[in-house]
Amino acid sequence: MRIEDHHDTVSFPDGFTWGVATSAYQIEGAVAEDGRLPSVWDTFCRQKGAIRNGDTGDVASDHYHRFREDVQLMRQLQVPAYRFSISWPRVVSFDSGTVNEAGLAFYDALVNELLGAGIQPWVTLFHWDLPQSLQDQGGWLNPNTIACFADYTKAVVERLSDRVRHWITINEPQCIVHFGHGDGSHAPGLKLDLREQLVAAHNVLLAHGNAVAVIREHARTPPIVGWAVVGNTFSPVTEMERDLEAARRATMGVDGQNLWNNTWFNDPVYFGRYPEDGLKAYGAAAPKWNSREMEIISSPLDFLGLNVYTGKQVVANGGDSWEEIELTSGVPCTSMGWPVRGECLYWGPRFHSERYQTPIIITENGMANLDWVQLDGQVRDPQRIDYMNRHLLSLYECIRDGCDVRGYLYWSLLDNFEWADGFQRRFGLIHVDFESERRIPKSSAYWYQRVIRSNGQSLFEERESNF
Ligand code: FCB
Repeated sequence: MRIEDHHDTVSFPDGFTWGVATSAYQIEGAVAEDGRLPSVWDTFCRQKGAIRNGDTGDVASDHYHRFREDVQLMRQLQVPAYRFSISWPRVVSFDSGTVNEAGLAFYDALVNELLGAGIQPWVTLFHWDLPQSLQDQGGWLNPNTIACFADYTKAVVERLSDRVRHWITINEPQCIVHFGHGDGSHAPGLKLDLREQLVAAHNVLLAHGNAVAVIREHARTPPIVGWAVVGNTFSPVTEMERDLEAARRATMGVDGQNLWNNTWFNDPVYFGRYPEDGLKAYGAAAPKWNSREMEIISSPLDFLGLNVYTGKQVVANGGDSWEEIELTSGVPCTSMGWPVRGECLYWGPRFHSERYQTPIIITENGMANLDWVQLDGQVRDPQRIDYMNRHLLSLYECIRDGCDVRGYLYWSLLDNFEWADGFQRRFGLIHVDFESERRIPKSSAYWYQRVIRSNGQSLFEERESNF
């Protein structure tokens, strides 16, 4: 039975984590304050044409100066968990050499503020802002970056782990490699051949595995550790077994000579090996590795974080093959141009949970919308409410069908710097005027507050009257 067919009052499992997410470079600003050094994103933003409108993260949502106000807003909205990232170049002064006390003090104060407001901190260690000094030495192509990441991780864990228990090592390895080192649309803006992209991917995997070990070794309270990947999702066009199998294969396969897939990254982490179809597809470009490296990469995790925003539909096409269903013109899309496909929060976590047999957290899900402050001073965003509603109903269904999904973190708390799209794309539950930096919670923020308060029950009670 699908959710659409019943109207019972139901709720999410007890202990389900509701929250919101951000990342350092996208919100903090203050790029040259208190000893912060440049990251690859500071450099990339200065390249002509790299970012829409020539925007930069120099000021962004000014969270560095306004974090107390932002935490209070979260408290008012009764958000129980907050995922944020640490800016590596804010915390480590020179490569992995010296620790920048002022940088660490910022995160220390943020964590205290959160705990004082009853909000659980979830810390991401790497959300793309590699120190430029490391990039100058080869970045993810240089294995030395792995050791530097371990040192940086140790510094953060030693400082925060008496109060922080939830850790995410690396955000979206697929984007780091595919956009940063493949098509060059993200920092550091490289267009490398497949062999070099695979070296970067291998080093990212090693950095992740090493960091897991470092967290477990140095944490002062029992840590809960995961990583956050792009959960690329293909859903079946019908629920017939052959379409379902086609969608499963499409979601869990390597297709083509690029790194935009799930299994090249997760199979090593969960199974200690690269997937066979990937080795075949990449052929001689595949990296060299040894069993000790795979042991490091597959350090056990407590959860798998999935960032899921949209999905594609597939149909079985005879034998083992499948075909993607082309989009018809006019289908609902967010302002990123991403099709709205609520079912991605059913099939994405389901296929990952089946394959990796691990608890899952939805570490990101959300939409960019054309929000502005209306004449009466309010920001109403019914599209976002409907987007969240659809996705959360699918997620509920996924849990009801047996998947162990333990949390949902909406992307994002605030409107922010959306990478190559600059400030043009608004994902926040809270509107930010980037001139005055004034914050206004959108109607979706109050709607989400009701969802959180009722542990998801309001999704069912209010489905026809959310606006
Ligand atoms: C994800 C990123 C996040 C944000 C959203 C929209 O790929 O992890 O920083 O940009 O997309």
